[in-house]
Amino acid sequence: MTGPTETTTTPTTTTPTTTTPTTTAPDARRRTTALVTGGNKGIGYAIAAGLGALGWRVGVGARDDGRREAAVTALRAEGVDAFGVPLDVTDDASVAAAARLLEEQEGGLDVLVNNAGITGGLPQEPTRVSPEQLRAVVETNVIGVVRVTNAVLPLLRRSPSPRVVTMSSGVGSLARQSATTDELSTGPISGAYSPSKTFLNAVVVQYAKELAGSGILVNLACPGFVATDLNGFRGVRTPEQGAAVAIRLATLPDDGPSGGYFEDAGAIPW
Ligand SMILES: NC(=O)c1ccc[n+]([C@@H]2O[C@H](COP(=O)([O-])OP(=O)(O)OC[C@H]3O[C@@H](n4cnc5c(N)ncnc54)[C@H](OP(=O)(O)O)[C@@H]3O)[C@@H](O)[C@H]2O)c1
Repeated sequence: MTGPTETTTTPTTTTPTTTTPTTTAPDARRRTTALVTGGNKGIGYAIAAGLGALGWRVGVGARDDGRREAAVTALRAEGVDAFGVPLDVTDDASVAAAARLLEEQEGGLDVLVNNAGITGGLPQEPTRVSPEQLRAVVETNVIGVVRVTNAVLPLLRRSPSPRVVTMSSGVGSLARQSATTDELSTGPISGAYSPSKTFLNAVVVQYAKELAGSGILVNLACPGFVATDLNGFRGVRTPEQGAAVAIRLATLPDDGPSGGYFEDAGAIPW
């Protein structure tokens, strides 16, 4: 499978707006609308900004009211047609309410970016990781993705060019985890975070198989090592650089790949 191609899908509206977004009824003029989970900071915020720059309407999915509203305000100040979506990916009721908001307020959804994720903290060595820690990481990084994807799937099925982009990590690659080269390519020893991304990769491959032929393209992205809260800002890339691969996958043409695992340089070995 080749790497993601450059953007060729034309958003239904291409002009960024600074006007206050209004409630939209479901109709043929609905703008291309995306939801970014964990869109309040880090790579998710940069993805929201990048999709907004295409003229898309962008939902900032975030669990904290203050952080969500601050992000929406900042995005609007950048000219993005952003709106807030209260969303805790670990909570059934919150996710169901978010799907309802998208249906009732926005009239649908075209692109889901499953970006929210946690590391689970330290220590992470498999011999020291606690069951609670492992459960929390899987609950957010894997089950959260399934919960959100399934909740908005009926909306995506109505979209003319639906896309699901899920933020994985190169450290989820079993090929890389088991490699004997330097730590940058294998990732640190991790009993929760890296395996959660491996689990996530497998789940997304299964989605791609089930949804083959539906028009919904489902892909995994690795942003590289990005300076964010997730790693105490030790990353070497900017959030904008990390967002680029997700934006490409969100804007794939209708004949683009599905079931792939990509970083900027192309496909990642499983
Ligand atoms: N940074 C990297 O080098 C790197 C590398 C590979 C992959 N990734 C992946 O990229 C994605 C974004 O990471 P990041 O580096 O931007 O991390 P980040 O700055 O820590 O942001 C994580 C985002 O996820 C949200 N989140 C966490 N748990 C949530 C929940 N239960 N419900 C809703 N939102 C939740 C956080 O919200 P709060 O503000 O409320 O906590 C925050 O908005 C993650 O999936 C991560 O695994 C990152």
